[in-house]
Amino acid sequence: MQDAPLKAHLHDAQTVTAVTHWTDRLFSFRVTRPKTLRFRSGEFVMIGLMGEAGKPLLRAYSIASPAWDEELEFYSIKVPDGPLTSRLQHIQVGDEIILRPKPVGTLVHDALLGGKRLWLLATGTGFAPFASLLREPETYEKYESVIMMHTCREAAELEYGRQLVAGLADDPLIGEMVAGKLHYYPTTTREPFAHMGRITDNLTSGKVFADLGLPQMNPADDRAMVCGSLAFNVDVKAVLDGFGLREGANSDPKEFVVEKAFVGDGI
Ligand code: FAD
Ligand code: A2P
Repeated sequence: MQDAPLKAHLHDAQTVTAVTHWTDRLFSFRVTRPKTLRFRSGEFVMIGLMGEAGKPLLRAYSIASPAWDEELEFYSIKVPDGPLTSRLQHIQVGDEIILRPKPVGTLVHDALLGGKRLWLLATGTGFAPFASLLREPETYEKYESVIMMHTCREAAELEYGRQLVAGLADDPLIGEMVAGKLHYYPTTTREPFAHMGRITDNLTSGKVFADLGLPQMNPADDRAMVCGSLAFNVDVKAVLDGFGLREGANSDPKEFVVEKAFVGDGI
């Protein structure tokens, strides 16, 4: 009872303003943004719902909207028996979620040294931090080319990203900056699609470089941000190491940075 007032301001209630369901496992939603919340595009926060006995049930979520947006957007999995998402998937406009306004994360521009090309490499909901960075002007100011590789098992799982990228050209803030700079390279692994295959395979075989007319990655020109399952992150890191890129952090910028899209079972 004694710390109730303290808890009240650690978690802000925010109102849901939009919800879109993409598949039976994926949805996105927008909420009001606390006036005092400042964050860098690519960071994550803790969000959730009030649980039993007024105890907050919070999980890490990448902010999918850019730092300049008046609202906050999130892109979410639906885990059928997941403590949070079994409930969160049912939110509707006007409902409230809770948010701990302490943004953190490594997928930020400050954590990379300057370069020519920025590679954004994601599987599944790992696209979320890049949904923010793809709408961030700094992304196009800092690099000559930006390459978004997103891989899912099936085409329907790519749809949130596809529509977001398709809308960038008409965005009043960054539409002109994006033209000619952004290469979007979505692939599936378990359903026929224009381009197929794992990101790791398309990098090591050189297929993506050939398809996009770009040189093989090298530490002088290429920078990368990686966000997927732990297995994906480990395997991509080995590929990037092989191209001579080194992993950096906020406190020690280098050629690439990695963040988990989720914490897996037993990991
Ligand atoms: P949990 O008990 O948290 O998870 C149950 C199981 O579901 C996990 O063990 C795992 O096997 C699986 N799972 C959880 N999340 C995912 C996922 N995203 N994709 C595939 N399988 C998953 N989730 C998002 O949906 N969007 C985000 O932007 C996002 N950002 C994250 C950022 C960070 C740094 C971390 C660590 C996690 C992030 N997550 C994100 C995962 C999120 O924190 C929760 O795990 C997820 O919302 C499920 O919560 P839950 O309570 O329903 O199930
Ligand atoms: P695949 O279908 O060949 O396993 P998941 O749904 O299991 O999280 O996977 C999302 C996408 O990431 C799938 O297309 C999957 O390909 C791919 N993927 C999973 N693990 C790896 C990995 N270790 N390296 C590269 N791609 C991976």
